[in-house]
Amino acid sequence: MAKFEKAFPFSKKWLDDRIALSTLERVLATEYWIPKNINFLWAMGMVLAVTFGILLISGIFLLMYYKPDVNMAFDSVNYTIMREVQYGWLWRHMHGVAASVVFLIIYIHMFTGIYYGSYKKGRELIWISGMILFITFSAEAFSGYLLPWGQMSYWAGMVITNLFEGFSKDILNGALNFPGLVEWIRGDYAPGDAMLTRFFMLHVLLMPLIIIGAIVFHFGTLRIPHVNNQDGEEIDFEAESKKYLAGDTKGAKVIRFKWDFLSKDIFVLGVFLTFYFYLVFYHYEFAMDPVNFDPADGLKTPPHIYPEWYFLWSYEILRPFPKDPGLVAFGFAQVIFLLLPFLDRSPVVAPASRRGLFKYWFWILLVDMIVLTVMGKLPPEGIFNTIGTVAAVVFIALWILLPFITMFEKEKKDK
Ligand code: HEM
Repeated sequence: MAKFEKAFPFSKKWLDDRIALSTLERVLATEYWIPKNINFLWAMGMVLAVTFGILLISGIFLLMYYKPDVNMAFDSVNYTIMREVQYGWLWRHMHGVAASVVFLIIYIHMFTGIYYGSYKKGRELIWISGMILFITFSAEAFSGYLLPWGQMSYWAGMVITNLFEGFSKDILNGALNFPGLVEWIRGDYAPGDAMLTRFFMLHVLLMPLIIIGAIVFHFGTLRIPHVNNQDGEEIDFEAESKKYLAGDTKGAKVIRFKWDFLSKDIFVLGVFLTFYFYLVFYHYEFAMDPVNFDPADGLKTPPHIYPEWYFLWSYEILRPFPKDPGLVAFGFAQVIFLLLPFLDRSPVVAPASRRGLFKYWFWILLVDMIVLTVMGKLPPEGIFNTIGTVAAVVFIALWILLPFITMFEKEKKDK
């Protein structure tokens, strides 16, 4: 048995003897090496982790008064939490605004990764675990949107569950047809109590558990390849950390995570939280759809059904096409980002500005997704429909072209 020295309970020494606290701190923080040449965009991961923490804590407070029952859900949110419970409105605003801005930060974080090529050469699993997080966050956001059981909750639930039927019946000549799939998902013929209760379970238990597991996995995938840097430089972390530990902190290309980089993370976090609480107190309405302040009514379809802003780009890829090609295009948009490390055929890890045609590919993709987002919110009529269709075709064409333009880039570099 290990030898335990007598020490005051819960002192550092006492904890070290029992759970090797100092070793843990060294491996995860003080000797976790970060490149020097990175900018504020590398703080977004930490901002995401903290925003997820805010969602968990505010969600726990909302859970104390929310009722997952079609007859009570709407009032428990709009009356009990918003008016009766002290500061209930604050937790709701914090939860709603965090659910919306978390996607803004996720998109910034993803596009930073794309811009700097942080999904290549040993970093493929970082990207894939990130995409697992994107998909699970999307499922978490969608299931949460149903919970207030307002008009948009009901009709968004109707549209999205119908998509599963479309996929199973119409794609691959019905090879995946599973009669009764929608009823199985809903637990009923139409969205109702069974559906609300199971989406409640997904939202408060299953999805958060998967997200926590995926965050741990995402952090784990970062440990060996380390984070990329602004130049895509391949740093010898072992040699550079030795230099740092030998006292050459100026010459070394790396710094410690704690406190060297963490202090910068905390600064960026402070700026983000100022912006976030400004939205919570003064502009929370942007995260709440006015139509969802009407209780769900299965007999009254809203004139224009649309998802939250962060799903609009993929919704707009579905909408302009006839039903079957639309479903194929939508399915394509959902999985294609996952394949990025394998579709980009160039081994060059560098910022997009230094990567030939990829530079144009990156900026066109970004602008195209913004156009799709704007068009997704507008009614699919006249000029809006034309612009939406063109933007959807451009999105698909860009991804089909990616392997070819990056293959060409490789040849240019090799010559
Ligand atoms: C939503 C939860 C997420 C959390 C908490 C999270 C957290 C982090 C953290 C802390 C880092 C290291 C520091 C940094 O580069 O910011 C990181 C890096 C990274 N993440 Fe995420 N992330 C999340 C989602 C995603 C998503 C959706 C993607 C896109 C697929 C992604 C892709 C990446 C990549 C490629 C890196 C490496 C960056 C580099 O090497 O320079 N992450 N993430």
